[in-house]
Amino acid sequence: MKQVIIITGAGKGIGKAIALEFAQAAVKQKGFDPILILASRTVSDLESVAAECRSCGAVADIFQVDIADTAQIERLVSTTLERYGTIDCLVNNAGVGRFKPLAELTEDDFDYTMSINLKGTFFLTQRVFSVMEEKRSGHIFFITSIAAETAFKSSSIYCMSKFGQKGLVEAMRLYAKSCNVRITNVMPGAVYTPMWGEVPETIKSVMMMPEDISLPVVNAYFMPERTSVEELVLRPICGDINE
Ligand SMILES: NC(=O)c1ccc[n+]([C@@H]2O[C@H](COP(=O)([O-])OP(=O)(O)OC[C@H]3O[C@@H](n4cnc5c(N)ncnc54)[C@H](OP(=O)(O)O)[C@@H]3O)[C@@H](O)[C@H]2O)c1
Repeated sequence: MKQVIIITGAGKGIGKAIALEFAQAAVKQKGFDPILILASRTVSDLESVAAECRSCGAVADIFQVDIADTAQIERLVSTTLERYGTIDCLVNNAGVGRFKPLAELTEDDFDYTMSINLKGTFFLTQRVFSVMEEKRSGHIFFITSIAAETAFKSSSIYCMSKFGQKGLVEAMRLYAKSCNVRITNVMPGAVYTPMWGEVPETIKSVMMMPEDISLPVVNAYFMPERTSVEELVLRPICGDINE
């Protein structure tokens, strides 16, 4: 069956791994025929992920979009609907973090983080949910973080944005349960991705890898429709690696 799946931040890190996991599922799961809508700001990243997805036999389409811009969100959703007719799954993965001590954080750090992690995630969810509500089915994933529940010293603005995303998750559940839409909050601890920049080998060796997150996400999607995996909490075996 054709399944239209939008993945934001699909060019790198966790989003890229989720795109590839869905593409590989097209080979493993009989009858699963995904149309992957890969979205982020950097076209070259998207082109290379799309090529990998297509090599697994999945259909992959790319959209250059900055989710901080509501006009670009509208273009992403309306073009997807024009081309493919529906949206079955949204993976709200695009997110940013600027990690500094409290006194060094600036107004620009605040506005940049909130415009993507909160404003972008909210307006994309609102728009896609209206499609799912009307057809009375769908699945929305939020890749929040353990920082949606636990504070870390150099992550004050990031934590605010992630606690805020968790607020949106809880609000969406109230709407979603009456129209058969599944909501999954994915809360990873430290995952080795470009978001971290340069990481010493000693730290890298204890971090999770993006595929440790993508596998349970795709497994949650394949649960019977009557069952909603509400939360996935994934941590390095040694626990959290920063404070
Ligand atoms: N890595 C971790 O340890 C970790 C742990 C818990 C949660 N998370 C969360 O997981 C998600 C993915 O993180 P990651 O580590 O994979 O980060 P990453 O490697 O930096 O990748 C982030 C992706 O999001 C895209 N993106 C950023 N801003 C965007 C925007 N305004 N519009 C559209 N796309 C945008 C980026 O592409 P462009 O820059 O090209 O747009 C990139 O493809 C984030 O929400 C993050 O908070 C990460």
